[in-house]
Amino acid sequence: MKEIKIGLLGLGNIGTGTYKTLEMNRDQIEGSVGAPVNIVRILEKDIDRDRGIEVPREKFVAKAEDIFEDPEIDIVIELLGGVEPAATLIESALRSGKHVVTANKAAVAANYHRLRKAAEEGGVQLRFEASVGGGIPVLTALTGCLQANRFSRVLGIVNGTTNYILDKMTTEGLSYDEVLKDAQAKGFAEADPTADVEGIDAANKLSILMALMFDHYVHPKDIPTKGITEVTAADIEDARSKNQLIKLIAYAERMEDGSIKYEVRPMRIIDTHPLSGVHREYNAVFVEGNAVGNLMFYGPGAGPLPTGSAVMGDVMEIAKTLV
Ligand code: HSE
Repeated sequence: MKEIKIGLLGLGNIGTGTYKTLEMNRDQIEGSVGAPVNIVRILEKDIDRDRGIEVPREKFVAKAEDIFEDPEIDIVIELLGGVEPAATLIESALRSGKHVVTANKAAVAANYHRLRKAAEEGGVQLRFEASVGGGIPVLTALTGCLQANRFSRVLGIVNGTTNYILDKMTTEGLSYDEVLKDAQAKGFAEADPTADVEGIDAANKLSILMALMFDHYVHPKDIPTKGITEVTAADIEDARSKNQLIKLIAYAERMEDGSIKYEVRPMRIIDTHPLSGVHREYNAVFVEGNAVGNLMFYGPGAGPLPTGSAVMGDVMEIAKTLV
C-alpha cells in the first residue's frame, strides 16, 4: 500500500500543532486518505525542546536537501515563518516535484506569482489554507464553493494577536503591554510581534485574499497599513460611548469603475455589526458576493492546533490524489 510521506520544515508552535493533529486523529486521517500518512523527516535545529510530543530523533535532518532529494517524500509542509529563507525553500520544494502546504502568509503574499508559477511548472499543488484565518476554512470556500460569485467587498479581522489585545483592552481595561505578553505566551503572536501590532501580518493576509477574490495581486508593502500601537484607552472609551468598537480591519472593495480600494487600519464598527462579536484571538472574514450575498466566516484564527487543523486538511486533500 502507498504510504504518504511528508517532510516538515520547522517544528515551532505551528509545526508542533500540525504534528499533534496528525497523531491525535491518525486513524481517522489515514482512513479518509486510504493510506498511512507519516511525517518522516523534520528540518529543525532545536531538537531537545520539550514540545509535549514524542518525536523520534532520527526524523530530524540538518538540511532541506535531505527532504527535497528524498524521492519517497511526496509532500513538504513549510512552517518556518517569515519571508526568507522560507519562500526560496518552498520554491525549491515545488521545483523538486514536491507538493507544498504552508501556513506562511508572509512568504506567500510577498512571492505570490513566483510560487504559483513554480507549482504550475513543477506540476504540483501549492496549498495555503492555514495562511489566512488559521483554522477557518476561508480560502478553500472562496475558491471552491463560492467561485461562481463576483466578490465586491471583504472586511476581515485576520490577526488574532491584535484582536486579542484590543478585545482585552476593551472588555477588561487591561494595558496594551500586559495583553501583548499574554498573547505571546499563548502562541498567537509572531516571533517578532511587530508584524502583528503594526498590521503587517494582516496586510499579508489581505494581499492573499485580494489575489484570490479579485484576481488582483498587491504586494503587502503596497497596501496602506496602520497597526494598533497608537490606539489608546481613551480612543476605546470614546468609541464605547458611541456604541462602537475599535477593531483592526483588513478591507478591500471593488469600486464601480472596476478598481480595487484596500487598506489595513483600526476602524470603528458599530456594536451591532457581526464583526463586533469577534472576541479574543478569534478571526472573522466578512465577504459580499453577487450571488451568495453577505457571508461571515468565523473561528479560531491563530494558535497551534487550529492552524495544524488547516494544514492537515490541505495535506489530506493532496494525499487523496496520490493513493
Ligand atoms: N500572529 C498571527 C495572528 C498568527 O496573531 O493572527 C496567525 O496567522
